[in-house]
Amino acid sequence: MEQTYPFSVAPMLDYTDRHFRLLMRQVSGRCLLYTEMVVARALRHILDDTTADRAGERQRRLERLLGFDPEERPLALQLGGDDPALLAAATRLAADWGYDEVNLNVGCPSEKVRLGRFGACLMADPQQVAACVAAMAAASPLPVTVKHRIGIDHRDSFAELVDFVDTVAAAGARRFAVHARKAWLEGLDPKQNRTVPPLRWDIVQRLKQERPRLTIELNGGLETLEICQAQLHHLDGVMVGRAAYGHPLRWNGVDATLFMDTNRPAARSSTVVRGLIPHAERWCRSGGRVWAIARHLVHVVEGVSGARAWRGALTRDAGVRGAGPEVLDAAARQLEERGY
Ligand SMILES: Cc1cc2nc3c(=O)[nH]c(=O)nc-3n(C[C@H](O)[C@H](O)[C@H](O)COP(=O)(O)O)c2cc1C
Repeated sequence: MEQTYPFSVAPMLDYTDRHFRLLMRQVSGRCLLYTEMVVARALRHILDDTTADRAGERQRRLERLLGFDPEERPLALQLGGDDPALLAAATRLAADWGYDEVNLNVGCPSEKVRLGRFGACLMADPQQVAACVAAMAAASPLPVTVKHRIGIDHRDSFAELVDFVDTVAAAGARRFAVHARKAWLEGLDPKQNRTVPPLRWDIVQRLKQERPRLTIELNGGLETLEICQAQLHHLDGVMVGRAAYGHPLRWNGVDATLFMDTNRPAARSSTVVRGLIPHAERWCRSGGRVWAIARHLVHVVEGVSGARAWRGALTRDAGVRGAGPEVLDAAARQLEERGY
Protein backbone atom coordinates (compact mmCIF):
# COMPACT_ATOMS: atom_id res chain seq x y z
CA MET A 1 0.00 0.00 0.00
CA GLU A 2 1.34 3.39 -1.00
CA GLN A 3 2.31 5.62 1.90
CA THR A 4 0.26 8.79 1.52
CA TYR A 5 0.43 12.02 3.44
CA PRO A 6 -2.65 14.21 3.32
CA PHE A 7 -0.47 17.17 4.36
CA SER A 8 3.12 18.11 3.66
CA VAL A 9 5.25 21.22 4.00
CA ALA A 10 6.73 22.23 0.65
CA PRO A 11 10.49 22.35 0.05
CA MET A 12 11.72 25.96 0.16
CA LEU A 13 15.32 26.95 -0.44
CA ASP A 14 16.73 29.00 2.47
CA TYR A 15 13.63 28.27 4.57
CA THR A 16 12.96 24.57 5.11
CA ASP A 17 16.29 23.93 6.77
CA ARG A 18 16.64 21.53 9.68
CA HIS A 19 15.69 24.23 12.19
CA PHE A 20 12.42 25.17 10.54
CA ARG A 21 11.60 21.51 10.01
CA LEU A 22 11.97 20.85 13.74
CA LEU A 23 9.80 23.89 14.40
CA MET A 24 7.06 22.44 12.18
CA ARG A 25 7.40 19.11 13.95
CA GLN A 26 6.27 20.80 17.14
CA VAL A 27 3.05 21.65 15.28
CA SER A 28 2.46 18.39 13.41
CA GLY A 29 4.03 15.07 14.27
CA ARG A 30 2.57 13.41 11.21
CA CYS A 31 2.98 15.61 8.16
CA LEU A 32 5.68 14.92 5.61
CA LEU A 33 8.52 17.43 5.66
CA TYR A 34 10.88 18.20 2.81
CA THR A 35 14.44 19.47 2.78
CA GLU A 36 15.49 22.42 0.69
CA MET A 37 16.55 21.36 -2.79
CA VAL A 38 19.96 19.69 -2.77
CA VAL A 39 21.74 19.60 -6.14
CA ALA A 40 22.83 16.06 -7.00
CA ARG A 41 26.01 17.35 -8.64
CA ALA A 42 27.03 19.11 -5.43
CA LEU A 43 26.82 15.78 -3.58
CA ARG A 44 28.92 14.11 -6.29
CA HIS A 45 31.58 16.83 -5.95
CA ILE A 46 31.86 16.14 -2.25
CA LEU A 47 32.12 12.38 -2.79
CA ASP A 48 34.74 12.81 -5.53
CA ASP A 49 36.86 15.41 -3.77
CA THR A 50 39.82 13.39 -2.58
CA THR A 51 41.29 16.40 -0.76
CA ALA A 52 38.13 16.56 1.35
CA ASP A 53 38.98 13.44 3.27
CA ARG A 54 41.18 15.10 5.85
CA ALA A 55 39.85 15.11 9.41
CA GLY A 56 36.35 14.13 8.42
CA GLU A 57 36.02 17.13 6.08
CA ARG A 58 33.97 15.13 3.58
CA GLN A 59 31.59 13.98 6.29
CA ARG A 60 31.22 17.54 7.56
CA ARG A 61 30.37 18.81 4.09
CA LEU A 62 27.82 16.04 3.59
CA GLU A 63 26.39 16.76 7.03
CA ARG A 64 25.84 20.38 6.02
CA LEU A 65 23.71 19.31 3.04
CA LEU A 66 22.09 16.14 4.36
CA GLY A 67 22.16 16.27 8.16
CA PHE A 68 18.87 16.08 10.03
CA ASP A 69 17.47 15.18 13.41
CA PRO A 70 15.55 11.86 13.63
CA GLU A 71 12.58 13.78 15.05
CA GLU A 72 12.13 15.42 11.66
CA ARG A 73 10.97 12.18 10.07
CA PRO A 74 8.98 11.43 7.99
CA LEU A 75 11.34 13.46 5.83
CA ALA A 76 11.90 13.63 2.08
CA LEU A 77 15.16 14.75 0.50
CA GLN A 78 14.47 16.93 -2.51
CA LEU A 79 17.04 16.59 -5.28
CA GLY A 80 17.79 18.79 -8.24
CA GLY A 81 19.43 17.41 -11.34
CA ASP A 82 18.93 15.90 -14.77
CA ASP A 83 21.62 13.22 -14.83
CA PRO A 84 20.27 9.74 -13.96
CA ALA A 85 23.63 8.48 -12.67
CA LEU A 86 24.16 11.48 -10.38
CA LEU A 87 20.59 11.27 -9.13
CA ALA A 88 20.96 7.53 -8.48
CA ALA A 89 24.10 8.17 -6.43
CA ALA A 90 22.32 10.92 -4.50
CA THR A 91 19.38 8.58 -3.85
CA ARG A 92 21.74 5.96 -2.41
CA LEU A 93 23.14 8.63 -0.11
CA ALA A 94 19.59 9.56 0.93
CA ALA A 95 18.90 5.95 1.84
CA ASP A 96 22.19 5.67 3.76
CA TRP A 97 21.42 8.84 5.71
CA GLY A 98 17.97 7.58 6.73
CA TYR A 99 15.59 9.68 4.64
CA ASP A 100 12.12 8.28 4.04
CA GLU A 101 11.73 9.41 0.43
CA VAL A 102 13.48 11.23 -2.39
CA ASN A 103 11.76 13.86 -4.49
CA LEU A 104 12.86 15.21 -7.86
CA ASN A 105 12.44 18.94 -8.43
CA VAL A 106 10.78 19.58 -11.79
CA GLY A 107 9.22 22.88 -10.72
CA CYS A 108 11.96 25.39 -10.02
CA PRO A 109 12.06 28.10 -12.71
CA SER A 110 15.21 29.98 -11.63
CA GLU A 111 17.66 30.88 -14.35
CA LYS A 112 20.55 29.25 -12.54
CA VAL A 113 18.66 25.98 -12.31
CA ARG A 114 17.51 26.26 -15.93
CA LEU A 115 21.09 26.81 -17.15
CA GLY A 116 21.95 23.58 -15.33
CA ARG A 117 19.10 22.03 -17.41
CA PHE A 118 17.05 20.91 -14.44
CA GLY A 119 14.06 22.14 -12.46
CA ALA A 120 10.92 23.22 -14.35
CA CYS A 121 12.54 23.19 -17.80
CA LEU A 122 12.65 19.38 -17.54
CA MET A 123 8.88 19.35 -18.04
CA ALA A 124 9.66 19.78 -21.73
CA ASP A 125 11.50 16.46 -21.67
CA PRO A 126 9.33 13.80 -19.98
CA GLN A 127 11.59 11.02 -21.26
CA GLN A 128 14.59 12.53 -19.48
CA VAL A 129 12.60 12.87 -16.25
CA ALA A 130 11.50 9.26 -16.67
CA ALA A 131 15.13 8.17 -17.08
CA CYS A 132 16.04 10.07 -13.91
CA VAL A 133 13.15 8.58 -11.94
CA ALA A 134 13.90 5.06 -13.17
CA ALA A 135 17.54 5.39 -12.10
CA MET A 136 16.53 6.78 -8.71
CA ALA A 137 13.94 4.04 -8.17
CA ALA A 138 16.50 1.35 -9.00
CA ALA A 139 19.13 2.85 -6.70
CA SER A 140 17.42 2.22 -3.36
CA PRO A 141 14.16 1.02 -1.84
CA LEU A 142 13.09 4.61 -1.08
CA PRO A 143 9.92 5.87 -2.76
CA VAL A 144 10.68 8.36 -5.54
CA THR A 145 8.28 11.26 -5.96
CA VAL A 146 8.18 14.25 -8.30
CA LYS A 147 7.26 17.88 -7.75
CA HIS A 148 6.30 19.77 -10.88
CA ARG A 149 4.21 22.50 -12.45
CA ILE A 150 1.06 22.24 -14.57
CA GLY A 151 3.09 23.38 -17.56
CA ILE A 152 5.86 25.65 -18.77
CA ASP A 153 5.86 28.44 -21.36
CA HIS A 154 3.70 27.40 -24.30
CA ARG A 155 3.89 23.75 -23.38
CA ASP A 156 0.87 24.03 -21.14
CA SER A 157 -1.96 21.95 -22.57
CA PHE A 158 -3.71 19.41 -20.40
CA ALA A 159 -2.68 16.68 -22.85
CA GLU A 160 1.00 17.58 -22.33
CA LEU A 161 0.57 17.53 -18.56
CA VAL A 162 -1.03 14.08 -18.69
CA ASP A 163 1.67 12.84 -21.04
CA PHE A 164 4.33 14.08 -18.61
CA VAL A 165 2.69 12.41 -15.62
CA ASP A 166 2.00 9.14 -17.45
CA THR A 167 5.57 8.90 -18.74
CA VAL A 168 7.08 9.60 -15.34
CA ALA A 169 4.64 7.33 -13.49
CA ALA A 170 5.55 4.45 -15.82
CA ALA A 171 9.19 4.96 -14.81
CA GLY A 172 8.33 4.42 -11.14
CA ALA A 173 7.33 7.78 -9.64
CA ARG A 174 5.09 7.03 -6.70
CA ARG A 175 3.53 10.42 -6.08
CA PHE A 176 3.13 13.77 -7.82
CA ALA A 177 3.09 17.10 -5.99
CA VAL A 178 1.70 19.55 -8.51
CA HIS A 179 2.26 23.29 -8.13
CA ALA A 180 -0.96 24.49 -9.74
CA ARG A 181 0.65 27.23 -11.83
CA LYS A 182 2.53 27.12 -15.04
CA ALA A 183 6.03 28.60 -15.05
CA TRP A 184 7.23 31.16 -17.54
CA LEU A 185 10.90 30.39 -17.97
CA GLU A 186 11.53 33.51 -20.06
CA GLY A 187 10.48 36.85 -18.66
CA LEU A 188 9.49 36.03 -15.08
CA ASP A 189 11.81 35.57 -12.13
CA PRO A 190 11.22 32.79 -9.56
CA LYS A 191 9.29 35.08 -7.22
CA GLN A 192 6.99 36.25 -10.02
CA ASN A 193 6.59 32.63 -11.06
CA ARG A 194 5.06 31.97 -7.65
CA THR A 195 2.50 34.76 -7.97
CA VAL A 196 1.91 35.92 -11.54
CA PRO A 197 0.73 32.82 -13.45
CA PRO A 198 -2.83 32.18 -12.24
CA LEU A 199 -3.48 29.34 -9.84
CA ARG A 200 -5.34 26.48 -11.55
CA TRP A 201 -6.42 24.05 -8.84
CA ASP A 202 -9.07 22.83 -11.30
CA ILE A 203 -6.36 21.44 -13.59
CA VAL A 204 -4.81 19.41 -10.78
CA GLN A 205 -8.26 18.14 -9.78
CA ARG A 206 -8.91 17.11 -13.38
CA LEU A 207 -5.56 15.32 -13.48
CA LYS A 208 -6.64 13.27 -10.46
CA GLN A 209 -10.05 12.59 -12.03
CA GLU A 210 -8.45 11.32 -15.21
CA ARG A 211 -5.73 9.36 -13.44
CA PRO A 212 -7.48 8.09 -10.30
CA ARG A 213 -4.85 5.41 -9.67
CA LEU A 214 -2.03 7.94 -9.37
CA THR A 215 -1.33 9.70 -6.09
CA ILE A 216 -1.73 13.41 -6.80
CA GLU A 217 -1.12 16.26 -4.34
CA LEU A 218 -2.12 19.88 -4.78
CA ASN A 219 0.33 22.69 -4.07
CA GLY A 220 0.08 26.45 -4.48
CA GLY A 221 -1.82 29.15 -2.63
CA LEU A 222 -3.34 26.94 0.07
CA GLU A 223 -3.81 29.30 2.97
CA THR A 224 -5.92 27.59 5.65
CA LEU A 225 -6.68 24.17 7.07
CA GLU A 226 -10.31 24.51 5.99
CA ILE A 227 -9.33 25.13 2.39
CA CYS A 228 -6.98 22.14 2.52
CA GLN A 229 -9.75 19.94 3.92
CA ALA A 230 -12.04 20.96 1.08
CA GLN A 231 -9.35 20.15 -1.51
CA LEU A 232 -8.80 16.74 0.03
CA HIS A 233 -12.24 15.76 -1.28
CA HIS A 234 -10.70 15.91 -4.74
CA LEU A 235 -7.04 15.05 -4.18
CA ASP A 236 -4.81 12.68 -2.23
CA GLY A 237 -2.83 15.33 -0.43
CA VAL A 238 -2.06 19.00 -0.04
CA MET A 239 1.35 20.62 0.16
CA VAL A 240 1.70 24.02 1.79
CA GLY A 241 4.72 26.30 1.47
CA ARG A 242 4.62 29.98 2.30
CA ALA A 243 1.55 29.82 4.55
CA ALA A 244 3.30 27.18 6.67
CA TYR A 245 6.47 29.22 6.93
CA GLY A 246 4.74 32.49 7.69
CA HIS A 247 2.06 31.10 10.01
CA PRO A 248 3.25 27.83 11.57
CA LEU A 249 0.66 27.73 14.36
CA ARG A 250 -2.16 28.06 11.84
CA TRP A 251 -1.57 24.36 11.11
CA ASN A 252 -2.14 23.13 14.65
CA GLY A 253 -5.15 21.05 13.65
CA VAL A 254 -3.36 19.08 10.92
CA ASP A 255 -2.75 15.90 12.93
CA ALA A 256 -6.26 15.71 14.41
CA THR A 257 -8.15 16.81 11.32
CA LEU A 258 -6.19 15.33 8.44
CA PHE A 259 -4.34 12.39 10.04
CA MET A 260 -7.07 11.50 12.57
CA ASP A 261 -4.42 11.58 15.30
CA THR A 262 -5.76 13.34 18.36
CA ASN A 263 -2.83 12.53 20.64
CA ARG A 264 -0.95 15.77 20.08
CA PRO A 265 -1.89 18.76 22.24
CA ALA A 266 -2.11 21.99 20.25
CA ALA A 267 1.24 23.74 20.08
CA ARG A 268 1.46 27.21 21.58
CA SER A 269 4.00 29.89 20.83
CA SER A 270 5.80 29.17 24.08
CA THR A 271 5.83 25.37 23.69
CA VAL A 272 7.30 25.67 20.20
CA VAL A 273 10.12 27.93 21.38
CA ARG A 274 10.80 25.77 24.44
CA GLY A 275 10.60 22.60 22.38
CA LEU A 276 13.49 23.81 20.26
CA ILE A 277 15.85 24.42 23.18
CA PRO A 278 17.36 20.89 23.29
CA HIS A 279 18.08 21.21 19.59
CA ALA A 280 19.57 24.68 20.11
CA GLU A 281 21.84 23.29 22.82
CA ARG A 282 23.14 20.58 20.49
CA TRP A 283 23.43 22.98 17.59
CA CYS A 284 25.36 25.63 19.50
CA ARG A 285 27.59 23.00 21.13
CA SER A 286 28.60 21.84 17.66
CA GLY A 287 29.56 25.39 16.70
CA GLY A 288 26.28 26.61 15.16
CA ARG A 289 24.74 30.01 15.86
CA VAL A 290 21.43 30.32 17.69
CA TRP A 291 20.42 32.92 15.10
CA ALA A 292 19.95 30.11 12.56
CA ILE A 293 17.10 28.81 14.74
CA ALA A 294 15.75 32.10 16.08
CA ARG A 295 15.25 33.61 12.63
CA HIS A 296 12.41 31.16 11.97
CA LEU A 297 10.79 31.70 15.35
CA VAL A 298 9.63 35.23 14.63
CA HIS A 299 6.59 33.74 12.94
CA VAL A 300 5.34 31.72 15.90
CA VAL A 301 3.96 34.80 17.62
CA GLU A 302 1.45 36.83 15.64
CA GLY A 303 -1.72 38.74 16.21
CA VAL A 304 -1.25 39.19 19.97
CA SER A 305 -0.30 42.28 21.92
CA GLY A 306 3.43 42.64 22.43
CA ALA A 307 4.24 40.40 19.45
CA ARG A 308 6.32 43.00 17.70
CA ALA A 309 8.37 43.81 20.81
CA TRP A 310 8.92 40.09 21.46
CA ARG A 311 10.15 39.55 17.90
CA GLY A 312 12.42 42.60 18.15
CA ALA A 313 14.00 41.36 21.38
CA LEU A 314 14.46 37.85 20.01
CA THR A 315 16.19 38.96 16.82
CA ARG A 316 18.34 41.48 18.69
CA ASP A 317 19.46 39.01 21.35
CA ALA A 318 19.95 36.09 18.97
CA GLY A 319 22.07 38.25 16.69
CA VAL A 320 24.64 39.04 19.38
CA ARG A 321 27.96 37.27 18.88
CA GLY A 322 28.26 34.32 21.26
CA ALA A 323 24.50 34.18 21.97
CA GLY A 324 23.27 30.68 22.79
CA PRO A 325 20.19 28.70 23.79
CA GLU A 326 19.61 31.00 26.78
CA VAL A 327 18.10 33.45 24.29
CA LEU A 328 15.38 30.93 23.46
CA ASP A 329 14.87 30.19 27.15
CA ALA A 330 14.29 33.89 27.87
CA ALA A 331 11.99 34.22 24.84
CA ALA A 332 9.96 31.18 25.94
CA ARG A 333 9.70 32.53 29.49
CA GLN A 334 8.29 35.84 28.28
CA LEU A 335 5.63 33.98 26.33
CA GLU A 336 4.84 31.66 29.24
CA GLU A 337 4.37 34.64 31.56
CA ARG A 338 1.75 36.01 29.19
CA GLY A 339 0.08 32.65 28.67
CA TYR A 340 0.87 32.46 24.95
C1 LIG B 1 11.51 31.03 -0.74
C2 LIG B 1 11.03 29.86 -1.54
C3 LIG B 1 11.92 28.85 -1.86
C4 LIG B 1 11.49 27.74 -2.61
N1 LIG B 1 12.37 26.71 -2.86
C5 LIG B 1 11.91 25.60 -3.48
C6 LIG B 1 12.74 24.45 -3.61
O1 LIG B 1 13.89 24.40 -3.16
N2 LIG B 1 12.22 23.36 -4.27
C7 LIG B 1 10.94 23.35 -4.77
O2 LIG B 1 10.51 22.36 -5.34
N3 LIG B 1 10.14 24.42 -4.63
C8 LIG B 1 10.58 25.51 -3.99
N4 LIG B 1 9.73 26.56 -3.78
C9 LIG B 1 8.33 26.47 -4.24
C10 LIG B 1 7.44 25.91 -3.13
O3 LIG B 1 7.81 24.58 -2.82
C11 LIG B 1 5.97 25.92 -3.55
O4 LIG B 1 5.82 25.11 -4.69
C12 LIG B 1 5.45 27.32 -3.86
O5 LIG B 1 5.86 28.26 -2.89
C13 LIG B 1 3.92 27.32 -3.96
O6 LIG B 1 3.34 26.88 -2.76
P1 LIG B 1 2.75 27.92 -1.66
O7 LIG B 1 1.81 28.85 -2.40
O8 LIG B 1 2.05 27.06 -0.66
O9 LIG B 1 3.92 28.67 -1.10
C14 LIG B 1 10.15 27.66 -3.04
C15 LIG B 1 9.25 28.68 -2.68
C16 LIG B 1 9.67 29.76 -1.92
C17 LIG B 1 8.67 30.82 -1.53
